[in-house]
Order: sequence, then C-alpha cells, then structure tokens
Amino acid sequence: MQDRRQELGDTSPEDFRKQLHELADWIADFRQNLGSLPVAPNDKPGAILAALPAEPPEVGEPFGKILGDIDRDIVPGMVHWSHPMFLGYFGWTTTAPAILGEIITAPLNVNAMTWRTCPAATELEMLVVDWIRQWMHLPQGFGGVVYDTASVGVMHALAVAREESAPSVRKHGLVGAGAPVFRIYASEQAHSSAEKAAIALGLGEENVQRVPTDAQFRMNPGAMREMIARDVRDNFKPLAVIATVGTTSTASVDPVPEIASICRENKLWLHIDGAYGAGFAILPENKSLTNGWSEADSIVVNPHKSLFVPLDFSVLFVRDLERLRRVFTLVPEYLRGDTVEAQKNYMDYGIQLGRRFRALKAWVIFRSFGREGMAARLREFVRLANLFADRINSDNGFELVAPASMGVVCFRYIGRDPAFAGSRPSPSARPAVAPYLTGRPNESDLDALNSEIVERINASGRAYLTQTKLRDRTVMRIGLGNVLTTEEHLRTAWEMIQETANELNREK
Ligand SMILES: Cc1ncc(COP(=O)(O)O)c(C=O)c1O
Repeated sequence: MQDRRQELGDTSPEDFRKQLHELADWIADFRQNLGSLPVAPNDKPGAILAALPAEPPEVGEPFGKILGDIDRDIVPGMVHWSHPMFLGYFGWTTTAPAILGEIITAPLNVNAMTWRTCPAATELEMLVVDWIRQWMHLPQGFGGVVYDTASVGVMHALAVAREESAPSVRKHGLVGAGAPVFRIYASEQAHSSAEKAAIALGLGEENVQRVPTDAQFRMNPGAMREMIARDVRDNFKPLAVIATVGTTSTASVDPVPEIASICRENKLWLHIDGAYGAGFAILPENKSLTNGWSEADSIVVNPHKSLFVPLDFSVLFVRDLERLRRVFTLVPEYLRGDTVEAQKNYMDYGIQLGRRFRALKAWVIFRSFGREGMAARLREFVRLANLFADRINSDNGFELVAPASMGVVCFRYIGRDPAFAGSRPSPSARPAVAPYLTGRPNESDLDALNSEIVERINASGRAYLTQTKLRDRTVMRIGLGNVLTTEEHLRTAWEMIQETANELNREK
C-alpha cells in the first residue's frame, strides 16, 4: 500500500533534482549550440507527426527518454526564432534572464484571477505594468492589464469603446440595444487584429475602414477625416481609430498627435497599437515617439516583441482602467468568497478567468537588464538594421522600399537589367522610399523573384527572412532584434541574398 502511494505522488525529490540538473545542462548546451542548428526545417508537412507515436501513452515513460525524443524529433522540426540568423517577422530574442524567469514561474503555477487567489501575482502585475507605464511616459491615470496578445488587447479596448457609445450593448446585445452600424478606422498598413476584433465583437469586418498611407506608409489623417465625414453622412456611427506605432510590414509610425485631434473633434475612441513600436519609447532619444499618447483612450504594447519578455506578455493600458472593469466585471456566486472588492481582481478586466503569473518573468527580466540594458540592446538592433540598409543602398540591383525603422528593413530585388540599372539615380540621389515600387514594366516578374529569394534562403536552413506586400508589390523584409545576431551574421545574410538573386538571374 505504502509503495503504491509513493508511485501516485510526484517524482521523488532526489530524482527531480537530478532531472533539473540534466535539464540545466540541456538548456545551456542548446543556447550555446543554437547558431550551428538549421534555422528552419525543410520537411514536408506531416513529417514530424509521422515520426511520433500516434497512440497516447498507456504507462509513464522516464524523463530521459522524453528529453531524447525532443532532441531527435522536436528540435530538428522547429523554426528557431532565437537563432542568430532568424531575421523574420519582428526582432525576437531569448535571453538567459528570460529563460530563468520562465523556469521560476513553472513551480509556482498559481491562478492570478483575483487578488485573494494570489496576492503576490496580482500586486506584482500592478507593479510591472506601472513600470511599463512610466517607460511609455503615460500619465498616472492610465492603468494596465496583462493579456496574452495585442489582438486580445484591441478586442477588449473596442468592447469598451462600443459600450461607451451604445451603453446597453453589454446587457442587451447589439440588436437588443438598437446599436448603430459602427465604423472603425485604421491605416491600410495596420494589423489584421483590427478586423479580428470587429469580427469577435459583432461589429463586422467590413466596418473596419482602411485609411490610405503616405509614401512612408504612415496614415494620412486628412483622408481619414474625409472618410469619417462621409460615413456620418451615410448614417454610420464612427466609433474608434486605431493609430499604429510600428506597423507590421515596415514599422512605420502614424502621426498620432494629428489623429488624436481628429478623435477629439469627433469624440472617437483612440486606440494606439504599439504592439511592436511602443517598446522603443524606453530610449530617451525616442521621447517624441510618445507625443499624443496621453490623449489615447487605450494603448497596447507587447513586451514580448520589443522588451525582451518571452511570448506571451502584452499590456493593454486604458485611460482610467475602471472603464474596462465596468464592461467586464461579472462575479459569479462561486467566486464571491474569493473577491475582495477593495483589491484588484484581474478577472474583472477581461474575458479570461484563469490567469498565469506572467508578471514574474517580466519582473526578473526588467530587473536583470534595467532600462539602460534594454535600451542599449534596442539601439544595437537599430544600428545593425541601418548598416543593412546601407548595404542595400550601395547595390544597384536592390532598393530600399521603406525607411529602415526600429530594426525593420524592407527591400526589393529589382534585377540586374543594365537598361534599367543605368536609369537609376545614384544611391546618394535616391529618395529613401516607396516611389521605386511602381512603374516598371516587369514588376510582377520581380515579385516572383523576390518571393523565390526568400523561399530558397528559408529552405536552405541557413537564414530566415520574411516577405510582405507593399503597394501590392512583393518585397523582402528583415527584423533585427535578437541579442545573438551580430554584424557578421548580417554580412552572411546579405551575401546569401545577393548570391541567391544572382543564381536566379542566371537561371532565367
Ligand atoms: C502592429 C501589430 N499589432 C498587433 C499585432 C498582433 O500581435 P499579437 O500576436 O500579440 O496579437 C502584431 C503582430 O505582429 C503587430 O505587428
């Protein structure tokens, strides 16, 4: 009987200690050797699944065997986002303090739904969120809540906007409350989470109106003003504007102060999507980035993108957080005993009840680096991106299609056709941005070439880039933001891009 009970409990403390040591070595080895792994697998879809037993385990297996299978089947099937040659999406990084923060969180495993269910988790979240508020130069009236992602953040923000504009929607629903057809405005470069939020909130995807951008992919506020006026004439109800600080493709920054004044005139909710870019406000030289932010109703920042916290960790700030609580508080009887009204119960600030202790990892990281440490690293990412942009500008076969911004560089291979190359202005005389994106006879061939360069490089496992579309043209894109990426890595990536382009040229 005694033996059976021991079997039912956890791993013995001695064995667990051994496993932890083994895991510590595994993690340290992984970090040390990461640069020599392929960045991405080149397997056919289903290959990993096919290598793993389809039947669930009937009896327990030893940790050593599980770890061995991770080495054999899982690690080779991964895109290694922390690899120094991973240059896709937005800069992404793993750091030692971040890993330690995640590890410390695991054994605590609390549910931070109310203050009572874990006071330390709640109060640390309040503290960390307030540190971020200070770094973002937001006035004290802004309060924040940690969600998993910015997509969830914007959905909650727009739910509050909707409730404030049609106060009984929470109770009666859109139809029951006789709500008007709301309209939301975001630039044509804004993230698709705007539409996802509109879908989830019953506002309708089509009612997210996309506003044109200027040559540097920033929202054109004049065009938005006209769209709002037209919508009012057509009996729509303008509800909210999403201004982006660091757009997904080019990291462009919308003119927030002008947008804020249009919101003020028209009594619209202003949401700032700083999922990527807001983190750069920790650099003193970027203080002007925050102009107009204090006028926002809500702002989202993803420390899991630009402030070194591992996925997932996104903060939604609302000017007067009580506005968010009013829309989402709902205390069922079975939780009433766990609720202390005077304390912060984070379950009241969103649809999620169970909540991880996310603040702990952020606290470990922020303390380990300090603002200065994070700022210095962000500065280095920007320096590397600018170096890369210089390389592009010095090669006649390529062009920069947007200004390098916050570590993001978008560029296009334009071929080595001597007839065309001859007609190009010298690098110093070229405008930094978009006009090059239109008007060549062979643009769609170039689209295919740019896409093929990215595909080939990614398939090689030696580097990882992304492609995006700007003004309907396919362009290549890199995002610098990994502490392991050096000038040397970048030089290798650039040579690969040039070689692949030349190879494709020869194959034509
Ligand atoms: C500007 C912007 N906003 C929002 C998002 C969505 O972020 P999340 O994955 O946290 O929902 C992204 C994702 O890349 C983004 O680039």
